Amino acid sequence: MHQIKPDIEALSKSILAYAMERLRMHPPSIDHPLPQTTLEALAGQTITAEGLGGEQALTLFIETLAPACISQDHPRYLSFVPTAPSEVSTLFDLVVGTSNICASSWLEGAGAIYAENQALRWISDIAGFPAQAGGAFVSGGTAGNLSALVAARHDWRHQHPEHATKRGLIVSSRGAHASIEQAAHVMDADLVESGSHQLTGSDVAKTIAALNTEDRSRLFAVACTAGTTNLGVIDDMQGIGDVCSKERIWFHVDGAYGGAALAAPSARPLFDGIEMADSFIVDPHKWLFAPFDCCALIYADPVKARKAHRQHGDYLEVFYDGTWNPSDYAHHLSRRARGLPFWFSLAVHGTQAYSDAVETTLDCAREAATMIEAHPNLEMVTEQRLSICVFRRKGWSPEEYRAWSDALLERGDGLVTPTKHEGETVLRFCIVNPRTSREDIQLILDTL
Ligand SMILES: Cc1ncc(COP(=O)(O)O)c(C=O)c1O
Repeated sequence: MHQIKPDIEALSKSILAYAMERLRMHPPSIDHPLPQTTLEALAGQTITAEGLGGEQALTLFIETLAPACISQDHPRYLSFVPTAPSEVSTLFDLVVGTSNICASSWLEGAGAIYAENQALRWISDIAGFPAQAGGAFVSGGTAGNLSALVAARHDWRHQHPEHATKRGLIVSSRGAHASIEQAAHVMDADLVESGSHQLTGSDVAKTIAALNTEDRSRLFAVACTAGTTNLGVIDDMQGIGDVCSKERIWFHVDGAYGGAALAAPSARPLFDGIEMADSFIVDPHKWLFAPFDCCALIYADPVKARKAHRQHGDYLEVFYDGTWNPSDYAHHLSRRARGLPFWFSLAVHGTQAYSDAVETTLDCAREAATMIEAHPNLEMVTEQRLSICVFRRKGWSPEEYRAWSDALLERGDGLVTPTKHEGETVLRFCIVNPRTSREDIQLILDTL
């Protein structure tokens, strides 16, 4: 099973040939999902006692399964938060797979962890984090937010043993991503919403002042957002940081989407104050040109996180000899070196290319906003922020938005799904792909 026999040699050529063909597609076919019953009819039972054999299983994937998945890297995929991995990061993902590295501990994965840590260092530097900052790559923003908040709660309980049995409380905002609420749910903590679309220092101060003594004693973190998913709003980092440091509360920044813009000189001032954060996440699989799944989770003081997350067991103690173990910094143990494709691309292209690529997407979003304003049937709903444009098609009902979106995908022209703003159904572009051009935007706008 684990020897390269001639048939596996031939299969490896087929797999690599397909991978290269997919990589060369610019743009790839956007494709669309198929219902379960259609897939059953087309693909049938894919796992059998005898096995399909490599070529048949690969053909099944190429011809039936892959076309039933939307290509996130299509330049007119502008929904949710897309992804646009660089070619070299995607290629290096193949290498990560074949290298079979367990990047939990320095003992097992020193070389990979060394490289991942340099990629984390670059992010720490653009955020202005201190020299001792560090963390780990986890699967995504949801996992990153949870792990950071678990560390925050552990630190609060450690600092305040008198409150150790209490249910914790987190202050967050209306624009915060659903994963913050989910983290509170998983942790059995309470969540208090503060502010409006942009959370400010004075919102947080007022919310804290309004808490009764018991609730104030349970407050262990403020979770703010550097680039809300729906609108691209960056909370008032400076103001919130000041309040958190005065009140001695953990300051967490969810930059899963927007944190990438730290690399863009034109957007960097919007993040001022982020350097005060205790923890910060950004997803390279969103706007930093890495393949799924990859979230950089960084702590200003990693020792606090280690105290919360280190797992103990007779067979594990050999790891703990003063070396750096990524397993210590999140809710995980075994882990793929998922930061390596991102590191490889940074190492190949250099950081300037990253700044340039993020600036390109910001320019495209600004231009898209201008084109929307100039369109007779459209109007911007909120100010264009980061790489997001939220706009309405005048006079359309929710059903008309949905029908238009479905038809766009059906024609293979793009994916732009409706969202809501203040209860109104509207449209939203989120541009993270430097290959998304003015012509791509025009093609979509022409159908509105
Ligand atoms: C601001 C923000 N936080 C967290 C998440 C969750 O990230 P993931 O889907 O990688 O778990 C997202 C996803 O879009 C996001 O935009």
